[in-house]
Amino acid sequence: MRDFSYFCTMAGIYIHIPFCKSKCAYCGFYSLPSFKLKDRFLEALKKEIAMRKDYLNGEAINTIYFGGGTPSLLSINEIGELLHLINDAYSIGKKPEITLEANPDTLSLEYLEGLRQLGVNRLSIGIQSFFDNDLKYLSRRHDSQHALQCINWAKHAGFSNISIDLIYGLPTSNAEQWNRNLDLFFALDLPHLSAYALTLEPNAILTKQIELGKVLPVNEEDALRDYEILCKRAIEKGYLHYEISNFCRPGMHSKHNASYWFGTPYIGFGPSAHSFDGASRQWNISSVERYCEVFAAASRHCEERSNPGNKLPFLDCFVPRNDAKRVQEPVSENERLTPEQQYNEYVMLRLRTHWGIDLKWLKREMGERFSSYCEQHAQPLIAQDRLSQTREFLYLTDKQMLFADGVAEELFWE
Ligand SMILES: C[S@@+](CC[C@H](N)C(=O)[O-])C[C@H]1O[C@@H](n2cnc3c(N)ncnc32)[C@H](O)[C@@H]1O
Ligand code: SF4
Repeated sequence: MRDFSYFCTMAGIYIHIPFCKSKCAYCGFYSLPSFKLKDRFLEALKKEIAMRKDYLNGEAINTIYFGGGTPSLLSINEIGELLHLINDAYSIGKKPEITLEANPDTLSLEYLEGLRQLGVNRLSIGIQSFFDNDLKYLSRRHDSQHALQCINWAKHAGFSNISIDLIYGLPTSNAEQWNRNLDLFFALDLPHLSAYALTLEPNAILTKQIELGKVLPVNEEDALRDYEILCKRAIEKGYLHYEISNFCRPGMHSKHNASYWFGTPYIGFGPSAHSFDGASRQWNISSVERYCEVFAAASRHCEERSNPGNKLPFLDCFVPRNDAKRVQEPVSENERLTPEQQYNEYVMLRLRTHWGIDLKWLKREMGERFSSYCEQHAQPLIAQDRLSQTREFLYLTDKQMLFADGVAEELFWE
């Protein structure tokens, strides 16, 4: 069943919290394993939220997403202050989806109740595995018992929209253990699962450890085996496989993430966060220190000039001029997409989802040049059973789901 109910998505806000208690061996996300800069960061973040309020031209915000790093490291008061600020500076839709990524090693029942009281209505908990040998290999700080405890606390605190992250293709696991992980997930009766194949990120500690032969290597065949098990069992249990790594009960998809795949505008705050205003992309520098420096300088600049709107026209102009190296290093970069890039991005993002490529939309919004190109290049892929076509939609076949990027490349505008 394909659910198209969110073609009418509204804009979203993403807030990147770049701190973790310690760095997990496999993780390539931008975060620091120390809280030294937390207070300075929060001050800078508040400035960014206030200063960029015109970025989305007053468009209503339908989703707010605290991602990381580990947003659940922030106290209830700190999250509350950020939500208040967002509420004051932005036009918020009627029932916004407010998600917080949470790490079990930071959770307690009291904390989860505090989040509910603030209006946070969706949790994404990084469980990774319900088995301690897997968690040890991944250098997670929690054990399986605590993971289960956190899910029960979340339910008890009143959360019904709960997602968990699991990682498969682990060398410490096998088909039987992965099946038992899935048994536990299904028994919990949660509406959403994000399951990721273990990826060796270039900057991750695990990648180095494997290169040095210090820990078990990763085998791609294990990931393929687990993915097949996952897709089959999730569908049998009534979950929609709505994106390569995401499964949900009907209607319980992540609205925030769906807006990325549907090209809805969003604004991202914090180091390494991306923004999209409908035509161009912007991304913040991946350095907490630089981020804090620039927003402190920007704020001083506004105060000195008594800038009434407290506006920040170009972040780059606040880079201190007396530091030649840093002048090369703006706090954010911007890229306006050409129609060809927009087409490639659309193909890449939509192929990952069960909504597929909408040829009618492509023709209407981007012109016949692109829709004919896409349809023409799809024919050999359909013949090879890598793509399927239903009326005006092109989809990946189930077997190709893990190879979405390779199929997308064949459809790219050269
Ligand atoms: C920002 S973290 C989630 C929140 C919190 N920081 C935590 O770890 O509990 C995002 C998720 O990405 C997944 N992830 C990160 N690096 C990965 C990798 N190298 N391979 C597979 N999954 C990965 C993990 O499942 C992780 O929970
Ligand atoms: S997986 Fe989560 S907790 Fe671990 S380092 Fe990455 S962001 Fe931090």
